[in-house]
Amino acid sequence: MLKLTYLSHSSFLLDDGTHQVIIDPFLTGNPNCPVKASDIKAKFIVITHAHGDHLGDGLAIAKANDGLVIAVNELANYAAEQGCNAHNMHIGGGWNFPFGRLKFTIAHHGSSSPDGRYMGEPAGAVIKMGGKTIYHTGDTGLFLDMKLIGEIDKIDAMLLPIGDNFTMGIDDALRAVEFVNPGLSIPMHYNTFPVIQVDPEVFKAKVTANEKNCRVMQYGETITL
Ligand code: NI
Ligand code: MN
Repeated sequence: MLKLTYLSHSSFLLDDGTHQVIIDPFLTGNPNCPVKASDIKAKFIVITHAHGDHLGDGLAIAKANDGLVIAVNELANYAAEQGCNAHNMHIGGGWNFPFGRLKFTIAHHGSSSPDGRYMGEPAGAVIKMGGKTIYHTGDTGLFLDMKLIGEIDKIDAMLLPIGDNFTMGIDDALRAVEFVNPGLSIPMHYNTFPVIQVDPEVFKAKVTANEKNCRVMQYGETITL
């Protein structure tokens, strides 16, 4: 059993009844986020890359909960410098955590910190938890190797950007779903800023026209996978 809560933008909370994992917790300053960072009790904080709309409240949540930041090496080092516990990984590598297994994938994007420091490569993450496999793509353009990600693991839920401008837009995201062939696709990274305004129902209509499952999650909504 795995509960998945969409906090808006690219932030999701995973809960298997024992452990909570939060991904890309951009909560403070996010106009669509229904919760406060101080409400989050997750012990594991996965950060796909260092842009402010992904790193967000990650370090504060880690400190408040004596939690663990999970990120690629350069970003994990930055978190440790700021006083957080961190687990350094890199793309292609997986590790068995108390909540399950996490493996970082490639993502085509950037990853400087808000103060302009190099923070390593941006990543996506395949997370096995509660008997389910989640693929959070991070911020990325479309890439053909997504096919390989879908071949290596049967993805139960794919969390992918559709907002265009900084990432895939709807039509490329549709191809990404074809490549990965997940049990369920959930759009993210849209409508937070003026340049990423898109209608997620258009994406859903295209995915379902291809006889695949899509769910547009409301901000703060929880589903059980
Ligand atoms: Ni980004
Ligand atoms: Mn972003």
